[in-house]
Amino acid sequence: MPRLRKDFATRYGTWAVVTGASSGIGAEFARQLAAAGVSVALVARRADRLAALADELARDHGVGARVCAHDLASPRAADALAADVADLDLGLVVCNAGTSWKGAFLEHDPADQRRMIEVNCQAPVAVTRALGPRLAARGRGGLVIVSSTGAFQGLPWSAVYGATKAFDLLLGEALAVELKPAGVDVVTLCPGGTDTEGPMNTGVDPAKVPVKLMPVGPVVRAALAALGRRSLVVPGAVNRAGVAALRVVPRAVAAKAAGRIMKRVTS
Ligand SMILES: NC(=O)c1ccc[n+]([C@@H]2O[C@H](COP(=O)([O-])OP(=O)(O)OC[C@H]3O[C@@H](n4cnc5c(N)ncnc54)[C@H](OP(=O)(O)O)[C@@H]3O)[C@@H](O)[C@H]2O)c1
Repeated sequence: MPRLRKDFATRYGTWAVVTGASSGIGAEFARQLAAAGVSVALVARRADRLAALADELARDHGVGARVCAHDLASPRAADALAADVADLDLGLVVCNAGTSWKGAFLEHDPADQRRMIEVNCQAPVAVTRALGPRLAARGRGGLVIVSSTGAFQGLPWSAVYGATKAFDLLLGEALAVELKPAGVDVVTLCPGGTDTEGPMNTGVDPAKVPVKLMPVGPVVRAALAALGRRSLVVPGAVNRAGVAALRVVPRAVAAKAAGRIMKRVTS
């Protein structure tokens, strides 16, 4: 496991906000941050899961843990979250919450498409805009934006999801440059297939995925270890090789190949 910076808890603590903390990658961010001595504000809709995780973190690591139950598809969620954490010494924001869907674009419920854009694109913008000024004013802190390897080319049979993740990638890349002078380190995390309930809930058959799904532990550790060191993280050697290959493959060819894989894993 790569090591975190020695000053991690002072630079990115006392508190972190983690969106999408009720399962998968977000819950693992919360667990690894708590293990590093950082208190965590947990954001998602399922308050029961957040409460159970908050109890676990307080018991196992002696850190603070606060439940902030919000639907990030709501235009009011970011301001409500900012109010929830107004009293905390905030050092890190992890924009991880996301929703996906696999299938034909023309059969995808338009309301679900809109919700996906709200949760995956509008929410990271709104949360970063609401909380970012506090990190900048403090002169030190971190921001993690969770994108995907699906961001690097068109993603047929998951077209809207892929496009939202491309948005997240470019948002994170730009903010890494813009916020650096203010002392805010930005990491964009692009996981490949990762073993969470996310892909399973959207109809992916793990037996048909051409590479092994990564466990959440190393995915999250790679992002936390990159803070203050690197701004783009693609966890896993196979995923990195795939992304590197895309630099020399024509974009239309890459989209066609991605489409073949997406069709296979969902049919
Ligand atoms: N797993 C993968 O293969 C993979 C690959 C690349 C990128 N990613 C990205 O990693 C991130 C986490 O995904 P995951 O795999 O950990 O999936 P997951 O287990 O399904 O977790 C998704 C999280 O987002 C939260 N969320 C969804 N809609 C929300 C809403 N409207 N308001 C508030 N919270 C909401 C969910 O909480 P509630 O349901 O309780 O609200 C949950 O905590 C996503 O951004 C995803 O795009 C995942």
